[in-house]
Amino acid sequence: MQDLLDSALARIEASQNLADLEAVRVEVLGRKGVLAQLSKDMGKLSGEERAARGKFINQAKQTLEGAYDALKTKFEEAALAARLDAEWLDLTVPPAAAITSPAPGKLHPVTQIQWEIEDLFRSMGFTVLDGPEVETEHHNFDALNIPADHPARDMQDTFWLEGGWLLRTHTSPVQVRGMETLGPPLRMIAPGRVFRNESVDASHEHTFYQLEGMMIGREVSVGNLIYFMKTLLSSIFKRDVTVRLRPGFFPFVEPGFELDIQCLICGGSGCPVCKHSGWVELLPCGLVNPHVLRMSGIDPAEWNGFAFGLGLTRLVMMRYAIDDIRWLQSGDLRFLEQF
Ligand code: PHE
Repeated sequence: MQDLLDSALARIEASQNLADLEAVRVEVLGRKGVLAQLSKDMGKLSGEERAARGKFINQAKQTLEGAYDALKTKFEEAALAARLDAEWLDLTVPPAAAITSPAPGKLHPVTQIQWEIEDLFRSMGFTVLDGPEVETEHHNFDALNIPADHPARDMQDTFWLEGGWLLRTHTSPVQVRGMETLGPPLRMIAPGRVFRNESVDASHEHTFYQLEGMMIGREVSVGNLIYFMKTLLSSIFKRDVTVRLRPGFFPFVEPGFELDIQCLICGGSGCPVCKHSGWVELLPCGLVNPHVLRMSGIDPAEWNGFAFGLGLTRLVMMRYAIDDIRWLQSGDLRFLEQF
């Protein structure tokens, strides 16, 4: 009997985990287990023997159940400890989401292209100048050979301010400021915001961006002008664009040109952006009118130059195929996040 009890106890203690232990419990403590076997022939025993057997069985039951319970507790505690270990969380570490959001800011597409063009012209020896958005009539018109009674003033609907000040209608006044302060020889560009009192539609805004350029030297030619304009366009579009050069009139250049590019929104077939003409006026330019040089104190017998006024907003629209100028100032994040 003691042998049976010892081997049953050894089997319980050999269990490695809860599943083992459960299997052994059925074998040892179950209805066909060791205790059941020990009580089977009780009826054949004498009174004394039966009492001794009963006592033995009770003690055996306590021993086996005690061993079982102790092991069960041990395995359960180990399982719990393993789970706590696996699920342990350091609440002082910021979650990944808090590190990556809110989404980082981005540069507006106009700023991106402006910076690209600035880099290009700097690499060709040009200085980047800034000018005021509130201008004098002198810098915006008179010094550019646009006198008060000249019809060219009607080309640009002006926002007038008190005291004869105005919101600049183009970046050309920065040409004048560049000539006045730096003098010849001169290579400058001037990106900036300009304003016109126009009704707004898909291709017109009251506020938009231009990028002015001017080069003054001793023998500047139309050939030089065309070289720089081609370099500019191929660097921006990174592909062949179809351009055409037409005579254009601006009082501050002579001869003056309109450099148009074939509309990249519709491929030239006509759309609201190109006003159904297939062409977009992008780059008015020309050789600086000698009278303009003289008004800024530069001797046209010694110096000449070219100037251009890139439509920066339009360029951005062409580059990214944006079909409505109003998106650019909408502040709509769904639009802005695409760049
Ligand atoms: N300032 C002119 C405009 O805004 C463009 C221009 C600039 C034309 C320089 C010729 C040379 O319409």
